Amino acid sequence: MAQHWTPSTWQERPSVQQPTWPDTAALDQVLKELSTYPPLVFAGEARALTSALGGVAAGKAFLVQAGDCAESFESFSADAIRDKLRVILQMAVVLTYSSGVPVLKVGRIAGQFAKPRSSDTEVVDGLTLPSFRGHMVNDSGTTDEARQPDPTRLLTAYHQSASTLNLLRAFTKGGFADLSRVHAWNQEFVASSKEGRRYEAIADGIDRAMRFMEACGIDLGAEARLHQVEFWTSHEALILGYEQALTREDSLTGDWYDCSAHMLWIGERTRALDGAHVEFLSGVGNPLGCKVGPRATADEVLGLCERLNPERVPGRLTLITRMGADAIEDGLRPLLRAVTDAGHPVVWACDPMHGNTYTAPSGRKTRHLDAVLAEIKGFFDAHRAEGTWPGGVHVELTGDDVTECLGGAEEILDADLSSRYETMCDPRLNARQSLDLAFRVAELLAASR
Ligand code: PEP
Ligand code: CO
Repeated sequence: MAQHWTPSTWQERPSVQQPTWPDTAALDQVLKELSTYPPLVFAGEARALTSALGGVAAGKAFLVQAGDCAESFESFSADAIRDKLRVILQMAVVLTYSSGVPVLKVGRIAGQFAKPRSSDTEVVDGLTLPSFRGHMVNDSGTTDEARQPDPTRLLTAYHQSASTLNLLRAFTKGGFADLSRVHAWNQEFVASSKEGRRYEAIADGIDRAMRFMEACGIDLGAEARLHQVEFWTSHEALILGYEQALTREDSLTGDWYDCSAHMLWIGERTRALDGAHVEFLSGVGNPLGCKVGPRATADEVLGLCERLNPERVPGRLTLITRMGADAIEDGLRPLLRAVTDAGHPVVWACDPMHGNTYTAPSGRKTRHLDAVLAEIKGFFDAHRAEGTWPGGVHVELTGDDVTECLGGAEEILDADLSSRYETMCDPRLNARQSLDLAFRVAELLAASR
């Protein structure tokens, strides 16, 4: 931790990607109110996640970090939260069953409301508008009024995060995630597909294994791990006023924790070493992620490791590479070598989404599942070549039957994109594509053990 760090020292640094709030008095009022609200997570939980991620850093577990690109204030429902959770649970089952490696489940959920943008403005139908920055900041509507940053949205984001987290806790501890329900996680539109049937075969195998253990006299009812799931929350810590307002001193240790989520990450556009985001996150005790794009140099990445994890705590820092399928092989290996040589115990995770985004002829922003899978393959290849552990994947997905990414077993084409293109921001894998991806990763993982 930096010597003179406080929750507000980031304010002395250049902070990019912050909204221009029209009424700073209104913003201050909201932040003051937020700072009196209960924490969404506890410091002890964040420490438990760091320790679990330490297992990933040591090559003993695998991380699946997944969820929306941007959560929405509008499509907020119990069903949507349940469906996202169940596709993540399905992916984890596929990975664990096929590779024998424990899987850590972290959602991009319950707080993922703010988006970095490459430009402050965008042109829509000839009109220049302030960019949409996520529902925590403004509305996606295409009028100047809708795009005005409104600080009361920070309060809505807090409340929606609280109820999302509450439901996730209920689902994961209250029976929904019970391993005996492994069949029920397969949604109808998935179950009827090739990937769905492949999943059913695994679910049958789990059933048989449980019946076998029961027949051996093992009391399955007494084993909590079969009935409950650890599920963690994360989001990009972008709007620093919000994050600061939810940062609290842990009464047990005296350390500071950002209690807006278990894990926070720094985006590709905000990871400047002397910038506000790195300063802020360097001082909180939560496990951190940092995106690493194709132009990142080994020196930059080592600088981030030193700054964000000077004490070299295993699991404290996850480097989430997002290079693009073409750049991964050459881009990643020098970084793996430099970080390993410097002795930093990081988790390496592969975000195969953000380096593979392009605009299709239809004008839709999309990604092809083949490119996503190619980047993951390149990620595993680079790790095998360097003798390091491919620790996890970081993906944008939804439990819904959307048509946002191309390809997959159902072969979504550019012409299909407009039928159910529902994302608030980047194109997400649908439940079938997500499962497809999990099977592919499971094969690579099994081979790298
Ligand atoms: C994201 O994860 O949605 C994102 C904006 O990623 P990156 O910072 O890697 O571009
Ligand atoms: Co995104």
